Amino acid sequence: MSSKSSSLKVGIAGLGRLGWRHADNLAHRIPHCDLVAACSPVAAELARAESDLGVQAGYSNFDQFLDHPGLDAVVLATPSTLHAQQVETVLRRGLPVFVEKPLALTLDDCIRLEQLAAQPGAPVAMVGFVRRFDASYQNTRRMIDEGRIGEPFLVRSQTCDRLDPTGAFLQFAPTSGGIFMDCSVHDVDLARWLLGKPRATRAFATGSIAVHPELKAMGDVDNGLAVVEFETGQRAVVYASRTFAHGHETSTEVMGTQGKLLVGAGAARDRVLLSDSTGVGHQSVADFYERFAEAFLREMEAFVAACRGEASLPLTLNDATEATRITLAITKSLGSGQPEAI
Ligand SMILES: NC(=O)c1ccc[n+]([C@@H]2O[C@H](COP(=O)([O-])OP(=O)(O)OC[C@H]3O[C@@H](n4cnc5c(N)ncnc54)[C@H](O)[C@@H]3O)[C@@H](O)[C@H]2O)c1
Repeated sequence: MSSKSSSLKVGIAGLGRLGWRHADNLAHRIPHCDLVAACSPVAAELARAESDLGVQAGYSNFDQFLDHPGLDAVVLATPSTLHAQQVETVLRRGLPVFVEKPLALTLDDCIRLEQLAAQPGAPVAMVGFVRRFDASYQNTRRMIDEGRIGEPFLVRSQTCDRLDPTGAFLQFAPTSGGIFMDCSVHDVDLARWLLGKPRATRAFATGSIAVHPELKAMGDVDNGLAVVEFETGQRAVVYASRTFAHGHETSTEVMGTQGKLLVGAGAARDRVLLSDSTGVGHQSVADFYERFAEAFLREMEAFVAACRGEASLPLTLNDATEATRITLAITKSLGSGQPEAI
C-alpha cells in the first residue's frame, strides 16, 4: 500500500455463508478499504459479487486472483481444509492475510504458518476469532483485569446453533474439522483468553447424535461436550450443539474466587416480550451472524487498520495454534473415548 491516506485494496476468496457477509461489509461498511477482487469456483457467486457489490474482477483460479493488479490484502473465507495452503501462499507473496477460523486443521500446519508470520518483515496475519471483538466479551475481559471476580478459575462456554431441519450443514460438515473444530474452537480461544492463557495439559470429550445419524460415518456428533485441564489448576468446559430448537445460543460463564461473569444467557433477540395465544415469550436470535454482526465489523476494521499500519492486532497466530492444539485433543478424545494429553 502506498500511503495511509489511500484505501486498502482487498480481495476476498470464498463467497459462501460467511464470505458473502465479509464481502458485503468490505464493500459497504468498512472504512479505508475497497473490495477490488473476489475468488470462487462458483461462477454464480462471482456474478452476484459483481452485480450486488460492484466487484469488477472475479477469479476462479486462486493464483490468478493473487496476481490482481495492486492487491494490498487478502481475506479468506474458504472451506477450513484449504486454509493452511492458501494462507501460506498469500504470506509467501508478501501480502497481509485475514483467515477465518480455524487457522488450519493440523498442528504442524499451524506451527509452520505461525513461524512464517513471525519472520522479520512478514505481512500482517490474522485469524477470525470474532468473539474477541464483541463488546460484551471485551467488557468481560476488562472486568477480569480490574479484579472484579478475583482469580478466574473456570470457564463454561457454549456455541449452540439452531436446528436446520433441511440438514444443509451436513454438506459443510466433512470439511469443517468436526463439531469441536467448527464451533468450540471459539470457546476454547475464549477460555484461554479469559483465564490468562494458561497451558492446557489434558482434555476429555464425549458427545451424542440427537438428530443427524449421517454424522456417525464422519466420526462426528451433533452435540459435543468437553473438559479441558490447564496446568494452573484452571478448567474449561465447552459444549457445542447443532440441534437447538429455538435459536442460536452462544454463552460464556467465568467463575472467579470473588464472583462470576455471564455473557449472553439465553437466545432472546431483544428485550421485547410477546404475549399472544401461545403464551408469553421472546423471539430468538437466528444464527451466529445475527449475534455477532457488530463484532464481525469491528474485527475487519481491526484487520484493515493493522494492514494500514495504524494499529497492532490484539491476537496472534500463536493464539490460533494453541486453540487448535487444544481442540485437536478434544476431537481425538471424542474418537478414543479416553482423556488425551495435550
Ligand atoms: N467466525 C465464525 O463465527 C464463522 C462462522 C461460519 C463459518 N466460519 C468459517 O468460514 C469458513 C467458510 O465457511 P462458510 O460457512 O462460509 O462455508 P461455505 O461452504 O458456505 O462457503 C465456502 C466458500 O468457499 C468457496 N470455495 C471453495 N473452494 C474454493 C477455492 N479453492 N478457492 C476459493 N474459494 C473456494 C465456495 O465456493 C464458497 O463460496 C470456514 O472456515 C468456517 O470455519 C467462521
